[in-house]
Amino acid sequence: MRFGGIPAQSMAGGDRDTARESVAILRDGAVVGFFQLDTRSVPGAPAATDIIGLRALAIDLRAQGQGVGTAAMAQLPAYVRARFPRRRFVALTVNTDNPPAIALYRRAGFVEAGIGLYLGGRSGPQQVLMLDVLAVEPGDG
Ligand SMILES: CC(C)(COP(=O)(O)OP(=O)(O)OC[C@H]1O[C@@H](n2cnc3c(N)ncnc32)[C@H](O)[C@@H]1OP(=O)(O)O)[C@@H](O)C(=O)NCCC(=O)NCCS
Repeated sequence: MRFGGIPAQSMAGGDRDTARESVAILRDGAVVGFFQLDTRSVPGAPAATDIIGLRALAIDLRAQGQGVGTAAMAQLPAYVRARFPRRRFVALTVNTDNPPAIALYRRAGFVEAGIGLYLGGRSGPQQVLMLDVLAVEPGDG
């Protein structure tokens, strides 16, 4: 709840907001996770017409630690290239005291945006990370 919010609430907010879309993560046809893509980027991260923000990532508690998040983030570049072909970068902020999430994003190829920590979040300092969706070869994602 602290790091990713509650999908039921994020989803309702996303439904009211044309800039955001909710994405369900499926494993064997069952929903095991959730995130949103925001065409305005996310608070604290760079914003531009070729940047899309990732927010509210949450894997179902019962499915955590089983590689679901890793698999979902590995598929993210291909998903963004197909669905948002004008977006080159995915931007996000992640709390500095959430090492599992930071490790997950690093494995997926996210790197520091180079603008320092974002201190405006409600849950403490956040790293600002970016992913170049063209840096992954088509087919790898
Ligand atoms: C952080 C979060 C998104 C990670 O997703 P996840 O699906 O649990 O992550 P993964 O299972 O892919 O990877 C986590 C660990 O499980 C390990 N793992 C991968 N496949 C595995 C498997 N089949 N079985 C057991 N462990 C596995 C990974 O190696 C990784 O290990 P590490 O701790 O050494 O890094 C998830 O835990 C979550 O929803 N947390 C709460 C909300 C949150 O923090 N969101 C991020 C907001 S920025």
